[in-house]
Amino acid sequence: MFTARHEENREVPDLSNLPPDFLWGVATSAYQIEGAVDTDGRTPSIWDTFCRVPGAVDNGDTGAAACDHYHRWPEDVGLMRRLGVDAYRLSVAWPRVRPDGVGAVNPKGLDFYDRLVDAVLAAGIRPFVTLYHWDLPQVLQDRGGWPERSTAEAFADYAAVVAARLGDRVADWTTVNEPLCVCWIGHLEGRMAPGERDLTRAVRASHHVLLGHGLATRAIRANAARPASVGLVLNLSPVEPATDRPADVAAARRMDGHVNRWWLDPVHGRGYPADMLAAYGVEPPVRGDDLAVIATPTDFLGVNYYFRQVVVDDPAGPPPRARQVPVPGSVETAMGWEVCPTGLERLLVAVNEEYRPAKIIVTESGSAWPDEVTPDGTVEDKERTDHLEQHLAACAAAVGRGVPLAGYFVWSLLDNFEWAYGYDKRFGLVHVDYPTQRRTVKASGLRYAELIRAHRQLTRSAGAAR
Ligand code: FCB
Repeated sequence: MFTARHEENREVPDLSNLPPDFLWGVATSAYQIEGAVDTDGRTPSIWDTFCRVPGAVDNGDTGAAACDHYHRWPEDVGLMRRLGVDAYRLSVAWPRVRPDGVGAVNPKGLDFYDRLVDAVLAAGIRPFVTLYHWDLPQVLQDRGGWPERSTAEAFADYAAVVAARLGDRVADWTTVNEPLCVCWIGHLEGRMAPGERDLTRAVRASHHVLLGHGLATRAIRANAARPASVGLVLNLSPVEPATDRPADVAAARRMDGHVNRWWLDPVHGRGYPADMLAAYGVEPPVRGDDLAVIATPTDFLGVNYYFRQVVVDDPAGPPPRARQVPVPGSVETAMGWEVCPTGLERLLVAVNEEYRPAKIIVTESGSAWPDEVTPDGTVEDKERTDHLEQHLAACAAAVGRGVPLAGYFVWSLLDNFEWAYGYDKRFGLVHVDYPTQRRTVKASGLRYAELIRAHRQLTRSAGAAR
């Protein structure tokens, strides 16, 4: 379904297709920006633990200080106001709100998000609150983590607590960020917390993460005082075989199953894809009406897009026995990820045609480059600006092909703690000098502000002409 041949990249952004109420956003996540890991009753998350494993994170970096957003949030809200964004996707740290994972609520933890949400709203910005962006309380990991069903239930309880507190003001929610990273990278490849390499536990985790999503969707709606719009955030990739060899074509189909269909099928009521059940040889621990809970209708699908995957057969590798290969001659970001905006257009069109979600929001898109602040205090990140314009043009093209795309969130507002890559990889529209915590809006941030203004003007004058 998601496999297709590469097309030429487009250069100039024509944003006239984007709807008048298109949401222009920026995204962050708690562990990547907040710091203050021991403050006001927060307990360790699995990322605090993982960061202490020798060699797990580049340079031995940790999220202990990060962008010190826990104290500098007023300045950061001011930056968003300056950019002129409509929406801010932030995540709540479970170990701040429920330090024991379950049970007692920590008022100071909730107060932090309460103040933040008020400030975001006062700046005229719509908060999109993500409940799980990878910072599982370590106490729950000690009881087995996501491979255990009790973690899905604890997640729903925590979602209810947050929705009860913030749901009188927050209308937009996402449950889990990128189950693929949580389950496949965290439990199968071991490159992210909790650093496991166990297919059975990874498959069990995937079922409980999806179950947690469904239960949390219901819990948010039941506990928020105002109508809640809820979605799941998946990181998806169009997949292509590197050659026409039947083995590579079959490998691309498996990679598509691993990355895309394993998540999209069950949330759209199709259950787990049969070919992948066979490929893994592990049964997810489905009970009772789990599949119906997982398929609880949502209000939008969040899509994070970073790259396409060109793959070859890898018979000796772990499931899905397919391996991504570099694309000769392609432009790569500092992450080594190929810049491929047409992949986003293809992906959005394919997801829409196959699954018909109520709405799609690009909940993350962005790129890392080796930015530097010049002596005159600017950051000339031309590559990020190009990347941004090309991906917005891809969104506009997808809208032209019938995709109900409602918004786009740049990853990220700020340079931040890029998980196993530490602080070297900079994704921000705003540069952060970590020793001084000084923020500098990059040229890409200024350009984003211009594009937002231009789109508003365009749609306003189109409205006036009608
Ligand atoms: C995504 C994550 C986000 C950030 C970007 C670069 O996979 O959701 O936290 O790390 O990648």
